[in-house]
Amino acid sequence: MSDDQAARPGTAPGPAVAGTTRTRTAAVIPAAGRGVRLGPGAPKALRALGGTPMLVHAVRAMARARDVTLVVVVAPPDDAAGVRHLLDAHPLPASAPVGAADVVVVPGGPTRQDSVRLGLAALPEDVGVVLVHDAARPLVPADTVDAVIAAVRAGAPAVVPALPVPDTVKQVEPRGGGEPEPVTGTPDRSRLRAVQTPQGFDRAVLAEAHERIACEGEGATDDAGLVERLGKPVVVVPGHEEAFKITRPLDLVLAEAVLRRRAKDGY
Ligand code: C5P
Repeated sequence: MSDDQAARPGTAPGPAVAGTTRTRTAAVIPAAGRGVRLGPGAPKALRALGGTPMLVHAVRAMARARDVTLVVVVAPPDDAAGVRHLLDAHPLPASAPVGAADVVVVPGGPTRQDSVRLGLAALPEDVGVVLVHDAARPLVPADTVDAVIAAVRAGAPAVVPALPVPDTVKQVEPRGGGEPEPVTGTPDRSRLRAVQTPQGFDRAVLAEAHERIACEGEGATDDAGLVERLGKPVVVVPGHEEAFKITRPLDLVLAEAVLRRRAKDGY
């Protein structure tokens, strides 16, 4: 693909499907989780950061990317109308290439994997590149999103942003309840990466992975893992420290600090 094509949204060539060409890039945002680790309160994606719901930050982060022309938000199944209302109340800035009509809301499922599958089912035929982005990573910078899209458009079927792991990691026999856990191994830290989202995919590859790979229990927490299990190559590109996942109350404090710094810097 030429630099010229990369600079224009939705113009890179994609495989022809049933008389159409899959040229568009869409983002699916699974946002149907309860977020119990964050403590009691509203579903995680609806909690405020800097006065704005986390989900709205996540939608804006996707819409800021050069190529994204459609965002599919997967809402808690019992509150899709409420999420639609919330997004309508926080329209995208005029500078975003995605217009208000291009943010679609669909109800999610009991596991993250179900929610992503339901989001993929809502994509129009002309979408060729799909990002899957956790609402719980609302502050991912646009450059990271653009880098993921560029790597998919350059030919990688699956692309994951990730960072080296700062801690040494131990593998254990899990016991729970604060009981001492026997250590079974210490992986070589230089070969480990902590993965983030958005993960980017060739749409057909991701759809096939979701159709063919079934996971027990809580389902897949990582879409790239499904593609790995199909036997297709997955590559890692540099992630960003501000793409951290908001899981525990301390993460909210960090996110507020990042937003204050961005407001000062005019981000
Ligand atoms: O629980 P966890 O933090 O791993 O969730 C990751 C993302 O998946 C969150 O954005 C959450 O809202 C979403 N999710 C979902 N449907 C579920 C469970 C989680 O969309 N049933």
